[in-house]
Amino acid sequence: MILKPNQRENILPLPVVLISTVSKDGTRNAAPWSNFTPALRPLEEVILASWIKRDTLENIRQTGEFVVNIPPVGMEDAVMICARNYPPEVDEFLEAGLRDRPSVKVKAPGIDGCLAWAECVLEEELAREKFVLIIGKVVHLVVDDRFFNAEGSMDFQRAKPLSAMLGKDGMSFTYPAFSGRYADYREMF
Ligand SMILES: Cc1cc2nc3c(=O)[nH]c(=O)nc-3n(C[C@H](O)[C@H](O)[C@H](O)COP(=O)(O)O)c2cc1C
Repeated sequence: MILKPNQRENILPLPVVLISTVSKDGTRNAAPWSNFTPALRPLEEVILASWIKRDTLENIRQTGEFVVNIPPVGMEDAVMICARNYPPEVDEFLEAGLRDRPSVKVKAPGIDGCLAWAECVLEEELAREKFVLIIGKVVHLVVDDRFFNAEGSMDFQRAKPLSAMLGKDGMSFTYPAFSGRYADYREMF
């Protein structure tokens, strides 16, 4: 079977993160994002793809800052409330019943109840006709100690970070399961 271009996101699990920002007049915003990836370990950068009409994009442009929050299973309803198209002056933390968590290096707050908080500053914007790639530098990264060991590895089976499989009329929220095979990085060399 050959999939159509608009089905291209159906072929793999996508991460679900919440991007929190503030507007220049201080309105808090939160939005789910799946087109997100860290760029090449051990670099400090992350990349987001954004449609042009997004309050998140506008806030990042206005303030140069954003926080990538990693929501666990249980936050699906809040994620879907934040996915609605509110006017920019609406506080989406209030709409979704989210509590903020003060950030250390940026003004935008993190979201309480998430597993990790990556505070980022805007490094570069790559504008295409229909979308924008945001390259951010992670300036501070804190995780919930209850779900990470001393080496900084997540106990993902307990933490259950959200991901999603997209389909024709909607998406199924998912989380990672261990396949049974562990690989040491030394196997690559
Ligand atoms: C699971 C999920 C993932 C999403 N991923 C993206 C994305 O990667 N890029 C994007 O521009 N919009 C994405 N959206 C849509 C935005 O979250 C949605 O349009 C939201 O209202 C934008 O909010 P804002 O205007 O406050 O930024 C996603 C929505 C959901 C539910």
